[in-house]
Amino acid sequence: MDAAAQRYGDIFNAPVIGNYPVVLFISNPQALQHIFTSDTKQFITPPNQLMQPLVGDDSVFLLEGFRHRRERKLLMPPFHGEQMQTHGRLICELVDKAMSSLPIGTPFSARRLAQDISLEVLLKVVFGIEREDRFNHLKSLLVNFTDSLQSPFIGGLFFFPSLQNDWGSRSPWGYFRHLQRQISELVYAEIRNRRNQNHAGLDILSLLISARDETGQPMTDAQLHDELFTLLFAGQETTASAIAWGLYAIHRHLDVRQKLLVELNHLGVAPEPTTIVQLPYLTAVCHETLRLFPIVVATSPREVKEPVELMGYQLEPGTRLYGCIYLTHQRPDLYPEPNLFKPERFLERTFSPYEFFPFGGGARRCLGEALAQFEMKLVLATILSRYRLAIADRLPEYPQRRGVTFAPARGVQMVLEEKL
Ligand code: HEM
Repeated sequence: MDAAAQRYGDIFNAPVIGNYPVVLFISNPQALQHIFTSDTKQFITPPNQLMQPLVGDDSVFLLEGFRHRRERKLLMPPFHGEQMQTHGRLICELVDKAMSSLPIGTPFSARRLAQDISLEVLLKVVFGIEREDRFNHLKSLLVNFTDSLQSPFIGGLFFFPSLQNDWGSRSPWGYFRHLQRQISELVYAEIRNRRNQNHAGLDILSLLISARDETGQPMTDAQLHDELFTLLFAGQETTASAIAWGLYAIHRHLDVRQKLLVELNHLGVAPEPTTIVQLPYLTAVCHETLRLFPIVVATSPREVKEPVELMGYQLEPGTRLYGCIYLTHQRPDLYPEPNLFKPERFLERTFSPYEFFPFGGGARRCLGEALAQFEMKLVLATILSRYRLAIADRLPEYPQRRGVTFAPARGVQMVLEEKL
């Protein structure tokens, strides 16, 4: 991407996804503004086919038009007011639970730790799964499932649908499908179980079960399954990697760590989660982490609906457009010395949603943005103020593709030095 941007600039054709002759990657803020604000007029938000093998046809990633809009409303995690305090306290408790199992001085993967925490948050807060046995089984399958995506033999196949052949669980795609089927069985069991219970909770599964469409019909089990799978996948893989990158950046830049500690110490003993998440320097650190290490490097596709001019080019219907998050976040005119980790840039100026957009934008903007940022800030703040960690070795981390997201290749190896 760097080489293409250097050679061709803010807009270039790279027909690398699907069978489309023109696939444009765009990193120009004015063009991105045009796309995100005309999402449903001049452009359509077609199904994100890359996600199909992961989440199924009834996932919000694959829906269009009215059903897409309706399902987005339902899936938006209810995150406000009192609930926020309760969820916040739960997240801090989950951090302590995960950290208490770590022995002092033994290297561990920060990504694995963060994955543990974010899975528990999703299963408890969003799905309301309480039973320990079901919870643990689903959790371990999901970890294997997302880990399998790091294998180039599986992760790479997403871009080549004709090679996605299930030749039994010993073949790469067969193994992926085998894990997926096992998770599906548990998700279906959870749906049946909830349907049989007569009380509705505040979690998304309960909301989806009680939802009715315009003709008064409830969602089918298959529809519920695909949406649950979507949230499980989209929610934990991404947030876990963001937290791991945050821990990496903070502990590679000890001045940043020090400033964060000063800010956190000012809050006194046992601050409320909703106070923690408003801290300006903590927010800047999280933004700079998501800028420098975007988990998703390009948005879902948009498609030109009627002839339109963009950046001086006449685009024909059917042209595919991707907002390029990675390249926009690397623009030196917006972010001088873009490869350096400098949280201060987010204190010195405000970036528009077309200059900084780790969660995409427009009609397909990430549904879990509020949850992800809330969790990221609370996990980092709780770890920093209660534990002393260090990076285990001096080797740098590089981003590596895991299916459709990017994560630190070595998982960020750290050691726990002290419990404070
Ligand atoms: C740091 C964490 C996360 C990052 C960086 C991230 C990033 C993104 C991006 C870039 C998109 C595509 C937006 C576009 O096309 O314009 C997206 C879509 C989506 N995300 Fe996230 N995400 C994160 C966490 C979450 C969480 C926690 C959830 C759910 C609990 C979630 C659920 C979704 C869903 C359902 C969509 C599809 C929306 C649609 O197509 O209408 N994400 N995310």
